[in-house]
Amino acid sequence: MSDKKGIILGIESSCDDTSAAVIKDGRILSNLIARQSIHEQYGGVVPELASRAHQQNIIPVVEAALKEAGVTKEELTGISFTAGPGLMGALLVGVSFAKSLALSLDIPLIQVNHMQGHVLAHFIQKPKEKRKLPKFPFICLTVSGGHTQLVKVTDYFKMEVLGETLDDAAGEAFDKMAKVLHFPYPGGPLIDKYAKEGDSTRFHFTHPRTTQYNYSFSGLKTQFLNFIRNCERDDPNFVEKNKADICASIQDTIVKTLFSKLKKVADDMNINQVAIAGGVSANSHLRTELKKLGEKKRWDVFIPEFQYCTDNAGMIAIAGYYHFLNKEFVGQEVTANPRMKI
Ligand code: KG4
Ligand code: ZN
Repeated sequence: MSDKKGIILGIESSCDDTSAAVIKDGRILSNLIARQSIHEQYGGVVPELASRAHQQNIIPVVEAALKEAGVTKEELTGISFTAGPGLMGALLVGVSFAKSLALSLDIPLIQVNHMQGHVLAHFIQKPKEKRKLPKFPFICLTVSGGHTQLVKVTDYFKMEVLGETLDDAAGEAFDKMAKVLHFPYPGGPLIDKYAKEGDSTRFHFTHPRTTQYNYSFSGLKTQFLNFIRNCERDDPNFVEKNKADICASIQDTIVKTLFSKLKKVADDMNINQVAIAGGVSANSHLRTELKKLGEKKRWDVFIPEFQYCTDNAGMIAIAGYYHFLNKEFVGQEVTANPRMKI
C-alpha cells in the first residue's frame, strides 16, 4: 500500500440515513447524518420515500460535512460511495451524486461495499487520536437491520463470511419483536432502553439452534409473538405491566445467541481479536456483555463509538481512503448493486 495522502468525501445512502463524511490522511474531520423520520408512521422503511428524502438531503448534508471539515470541494482527492448492498432507489441517489461530483472535479471515484464499511469503521480515528486498532486477522460480528454475519478479516479488503443468518437479521429480529410490543419503528433502541430496568431471567425463550457458524431468528420471533399474544389474551395490559422484564429477557436471549457462535468461531480459529459492528452493536447489553466475555476469554475486544455503529458515511470514507491508497478506482459506468457481497 502506498503512503500517498488523500482527502476523501464519503457518501452513504443505502437505506434510510443520508450521510456524508470527510477523511483526511486516515483521520476523520466530519461525519454528518440526516435521519429520515418519515418511516416511523409506516412501521418500517418505505423505499420510495427513502429515495425522495435522500434526494432532498444529499446536497445540504455534503455541504455541511465539507464545511465542518474545513475542506473545499476542490481540495478533495477522491469520492467514495456505498455501491451496495441496500435499497436500489436509495443507493442510486448516492451513486449518481458521487459520479457527477467526481466527474465535475475530475477526481477518482471509489465504490465501497456497505458491509466492508461497517467492519472498517474500526479504523476510523480522530485527528491526533492514538487508539488501539484491531490486528489482522480479527473476527467481526456484523449485526445490522439487514445482516448478521461472522466475518474473518485478514486484511482491509480480505474478508470472508464464515457464518450468517439463515433468515432474519438480528436488527430485524429486534425491530419485529418491538412491533409485537407495540413500539414504533425502529424498535431495537427502545428494547435496549426499557431492558435497562428489567430482569432478564424472568421470561424464558428457546435459544435457536443452527449449524456451524450460522444464525436463525425467525423461530424465536414466532415463539415471542405467540407468547405475547397468549399473555395479552389473559391480560390486555400484560406488555405495559411487564415491559422492562420482557425487553431484558428477549434482549438477553438475542445477545446469548449471537455470542454462542462468536465464541465458537474465535475458539475454532484461535483468534483473540474480536470486534462488533453494525447498528445492533449500539446495543448496551451487547456491548457490556462483550467486554465481560473478552476479559474471560482474554480477547482484545473492539467496540465502535455509537456514531460509527449505525449507518454512517465515516465508515464509507475510511474504506474509500484505503481503496484510494490501493488505487482501486471505478469508472463512470459503475452503478448500484443492491445485492453486493463482501
Ligand atoms: O446498521 P444499521 O444502522 O442499518 C442497516 O444497515 O441495517 O442497523 C439498523 C438496525 C435496526 O434494526 C435497529 O433497530 C438496530 O440496528 N439498532 C439496535 C440498537 N440501535 C440500533 N438494536 C438494538 N439495540 C440498539 N441500541
Ligand atoms: Zn448498515
